[in-house]
Amino acid sequence: MTLQVARPELGPEEAEAVARVLATGWVTQGPEVARFEAELAAFVGAPEAVATSSCTTALHLALLAVGVGPGDEVVCPSHSFIATANAVRQCGATPVFADVDLDTFNLDPDDVARRVGPRTRALLVVHQLGLPCDLEALLGLARARGLPVVEDAACAIGSEVLTERGWERIGRPHGDLACFSFHPRKLVTTGDGGAITTRDPAVAARLRRMRQHGMTVTDAERHKSASVVFEAYEAPGFNYRLTDLQAAVGRVQLGRLPAAIAHRRALAGRYRERLHASPEVACPVEPSWARTNWQSYCVRLTDRCARGQREVMEALLAAGVSTRRGVMCAHLEPAYAGAYEGLGRSERARDRGLVLPLHGGMGPGDVDRVCDALLAAVRGG
Ligand SMILES: Cc1ncc(COP(=O)(O)O)c(C=O)c1O
Repeated sequence: MTLQVARPELGPEEAEAVARVLATGWVTQGPEVARFEAELAAFVGAPEAVATSSCTTALHLALLAVGVGPGDEVVCPSHSFIATANAVRQCGATPVFADVDLDTFNLDPDDVARRVGPRTRALLVVHQLGLPCDLEALLGLARARGLPVVEDAACAIGSEVLTERGWERIGRPHGDLACFSFHPRKLVTTGDGGAITTRDPAVAARLRRMRQHGMTVTDAERHKSASVVFEAYEAPGFNYRLTDLQAAVGRVQLGRLPAAIAHRRALAGRYRERLHASPEVACPVEPSWARTNWQSYCVRLTDRCARGQREVMEALLAAGVSTRRGVMCAHLEPAYAGAYEGLGRSERARDRGLVLPLHGGMGPGDVDRVCDALLAAVRGG
């Protein structure tokens, strides 16, 4: 049987949670969404969490909330899922791509500093594949330039960063707003879904209106009211709602997250043990100030590996191991065709990166099977 790259962990508890919500008849923007938001906020240590239909819609709202609009520029990585760049475009702004570090696949703060210009309106920093980016350097830069920071934490639920206060979960948020994804590739899934965390209750209230057509009165408020309430629409909004069915699944998933991360940490440790001595394979690097949730284990084929990415992937597939190429680069896709300079490390990371299987259904024996196949493949076996 082929070993899959990722697999959501969904079981009878999630099915029971959905059935419980169905029985209440309140299936969107109801009490489960409110509970999920409260539990998520408590988990990451944020005062407020606002659930959305995806991370892409969360990023769109977050960028609008910090004032990004037509004519603005937002500095972000090209080396990310295309939703990062798309969210900037959705605001009518232009993504200005900065290069990444090859060991962490995260933004290089020095290159970000070089790309900030008079039209820069915000920084959109990504915690790539779950590994926290260099927040200290990036937030320092943003403060010095008076720029807001939106964290694309799509993959980083449960990841941690060391601050002067100690270890803190991504999403407090450390920037102005942080956005999460609950797509099935992520450690917490609601099918599709997302959330924004913020320290500011007024911003949270505005985000909740924006996700629901700009409506000034929520369904819950109207439901609770003893008198007739008419809502108003003071600003244009969107339908970016998460349903209560999804929120109920998310609550179960959130409860399992610490155990899921511990399991992945053990598997990632085994990968490192087996692969770190190979001259052909560079293992992902976790800086001393970061703890990833190991959403994905992405190795890089070094210059010592004579075989190409596709060849290695094909050899692995033939050995019953499914892989994915490294993170994409938006600037190499037709949607963002243009003249770009200085993104060489992003391009190398894409062309030499290899995402290996890592999920809760795996044990150490599966990791060994992947490593045996990979080590044979990179040596041309
Ligand atoms: C870095 C990054 N940003 C944004 C997204 C988009 O998330 P969603 O599919 O929830 O819209 C993803 C999805 O994988 C991602 O990896």
